[in-house]
Amino acid sequence: MESLHGLVKGTALEADAKALAQGEANGVMMYYALARLATEQGLDEVAAKFIEAANQEAVHAGFYATLVGKYPKDFWALVETVRKAEIKGEASIKAFADKVRAAGFDKAADEMEIFAKQEGHHGVLMTEIIDNYKPKDAGAKKSAAKVYVCPVCGYEYVGDIDKEPDDWTCPLCGQPKSAFRPKSKMKIKAVKLYENGFMTQPFAMGGKGETDKFDPTVKYRSTLQNYVIDTGDEVILVDTGMPLEAPDMVVDDKTQIYLGSRIKDYVSALKEVGYEPEQISKILITHKHADHTGELRSFPNAKIYISRVEADDMKLDTPNVVRTDFTDGPYKNFERSQKIADGVYYIFAPGHTKGNSIIIVEDGGLYYIIHGDVTYTDEALYKNRLSVVFEDYDAALDTLARVRQFIRENPTVYVSTHTPLGYENLEAKRVVDLDNMPEPIPPGEIKAAKATGKYICSICGQVYDPAVGDPDHGIPAGTAFEDLPADWKCPRCRQPKTAFNPA
Ligand SMILES: [Fe+2]
Ligand SMILES: [Fe+2]
Repeated sequence: MESLHGLVKGTALEADAKALAQGEANGVMMYYALARLATEQGLDEVAAKFIEAANQEAVHAGFYATLVGKYPKDFWALVETVRKAEIKGEASIKAFADKVRAAGFDKAADEMEIFAKQEGHHGVLMTEIIDNYKPKDAGAKKSAAKVYVCPVCGYEYVGDIDKEPDDWTCPLCGQPKSAFRPKSKMKIKAVKLYENGFMTQPFAMGGKGETDKFDPTVKYRSTLQNYVIDTGDEVILVDTGMPLEAPDMVVDDKTQIYLGSRIKDYVSALKEVGYEPEQISKILITHKHADHTGELRSFPNAKIYISRVEADDMKLDTPNVVRTDFTDGPYKNFERSQKIADGVYYIFAPGHTKGNSIIIVEDGGLYYIIHGDVTYTDEALYKNRLSVVFEDYDAALDTLARVRQFIRENPTVYVSTHTPLGYENLEAKRVVDLDNMPEPIPPGEIKAAKATGKYICSICGQVYDPAVGDPDHGIPAGTAFEDLPADWKCPRCRQPKTAFNPA
């Protein structure tokens, strides 16, 4: 069928055709409203005639919209946006219906609840259309073409938006052309490894010999997660978690930091967020500690960027290691940096360890600091406190001061490794305001197995309690299980010591 798409676009006929499209659309609204009023007055036949007129007006509106090229001829991107909007529409109409009901208009609310379901059904229809009819190569050109996004409805314009006339508006919501922004391809995702841990305030803020200024009963949530930077052109890791074989941690009264229980090993967690190890082109290491370098060995084909100091310390010698000297000069208020990709900067920030580094990602007008262990919990950043873990105290102080200065001068999302605030900030794009610390969230019930010192016989369930000992067999109270003679046996079932497990 011959296409009339954009037939009058750019001609003297365009303005009239546009006005007609709008006029006919208004006609649809008017005739359906009249049809409703007619039904309410018992004039069903009149209502049917209004509906017939409305449907013809709807056809006309679509016709004129086609003539002026209001919607893209290659409409698949639009269908995708509409699909999302319709699915969201169900909840927003339902919410409005609730307000209408709360205002006492039950009858109207009843009808609107049906409309809400219809919006959801439109989403299903769009999904079916996409699944069954969208050509496999539709959108293939998109990766090469520029994409612009409507800030209000999310409509994606593919191509050169500057070629559209100045009065061009979003085909979906009518936003002006000037509101559209280039679509960012950058994505930062958390690779979540441990959850539901805690750290004490003296650990997180005690710095150098000042733990007694802080309250050991105050605890902050703790986790372990590293990050993936997907620039759209390549996939870059920041740190590689704990080694696969790391044992579960055990908590007792003296524990200062417990990263929590393991969710997944690093490579599995990476796959969970959508990346295979073979896809990774580069790895940026913040520092040498095992919870940041654990699975480097799983990426033999990725370039591993690590500061020379840390690489030497770890005695890394595989050919994919890039000993980094940060030779690209200053980045903002940091003295030494290396540009890794567009918008991705690797920055020397020593103190926590002597070769410690951080990563700053620029995207959408914001700066994301992925900082490793500059602080363990964000409250320490706000309160300008170092943790008790550092190799070079003065350098760590200087790094923290620079991070804070950077945050004051640039809208920054603080992306941490050892607090769930790291991914919570990231997901909410929450910009740090150093003068307004968010209310700390205490950890929940810690379910970690606590090492009690007691042992239990795996055969008969007999418990060895060091506070009691085994006086019948000459073991005095106060003897730790570890200190029992090798030939000691279960007093009940006479199984060997090796049959016992920690309780
Ligand atoms: Fe560390
Ligand atoms: Fe760490």
